[in-house]
Amino acid sequence: MPERPDLDHILREIHETLAPRFGEGAVADYIPQLARVDPRGFGMAVITLDGDTHVVGDADTAFSIQSISKVLMLTLALGKHGEAVWSRVGREPSGSAFNSIVQLEYEHAVPRNPFINAGAIAITDLLLAGHTPREAIGEMMRFVRSLAEDESIAIDQAVARSEQATGDRNRALAYFMHSYGQMRHPVDHVLGVYFHHCAIAISCRQLARVGLFLANNGRDPVTGGSIVSPSRARRINAVMLTCGHYDQSGDFAYRVGLPGKSGVGGGILAIAPGRAAVAVWSPGLNAFGNSLLGSLALEMLARRTGWSVF
Ligand code: DON
Repeated sequence: MPERPDLDHILREIHETLAPRFGEGAVADYIPQLARVDPRGFGMAVITLDGDTHVVGDADTAFSIQSISKVLMLTLALGKHGEAVWSRVGREPSGSAFNSIVQLEYEHAVPRNPFINAGAIAITDLLLAGHTPREAIGEMMRFVRSLAEDESIAIDQAVARSEQATGDRNRALAYFMHSYGQMRHPVDHVLGVYFHHCAIAISCRQLARVGLFLANNGRDPVTGGSIVSPSRARRINAVMLTCGHYDQSGDFAYRVGLPGKSGVGGGILAIAPGRAAVAVWSPGLNAFGNSLLGSLALEMLARRTGWSVF
């Protein structure tokens, strides 16, 4: 493996290899606003620890962050509540779909991990402590904009409304937890915040920049600012590796070998610790709700660069 891989060349190669397949997979349609996205979009951005940015394709096209925001929710919740977060959610892979409800009853309304919907809803309840819904959303937007050093990042209100209109499964999860006394705030407040966090519109370039602190022991290598402690960064990455792709997390670890978090908008954030943050977007999903070509692109990148946590 070359010590400094030629990332521009590698990204071009990945783009060319996958181009004949652009549009493969199924765009999420259970959130109607997401179904309007052009399935042929594809973008990728890699930012190395020295701040060098390498992009290909639609790397500046904003897409819906969806479940990738769960990494930021967890980061904020750990900052606010510390390890007490783990009394509200576990940190084991679920082996179930992202919106599954089956484990909740067996496990007394404590979601398996913060990256399935039930877990992120419980985390959102924690983020509301001492805040109105508007303040909790504001806190997230300040966090994501400061990480990206980009004040233009915004919530796509049409997506937020679309989620709100069709979010019965999430309401079921939230009310189920509420029935066990697990929610501290009104369910409609918690879900309103959760839906808005999922509806952040972000590009690959911005998303890779947001994730860069996780590749650098919790410190933003560009500004030098400390975002989380080194041990916390390692732990967030550990949960991404084990739980970031739902019941396909094992397969992603096997094929890519990097912590990653997917969203039904077709994005994936992957972290190569000590090297780079990577964001890829391709809206066609596989049966697990993860980007089909996005995970293939990351597999190719990992193979060509030799980047792996193993
Ligand atoms: O709550 C939902 O269903 C969506 N806002 C997020 C789900 C998601 O992104 C799952 N990811 N692969």
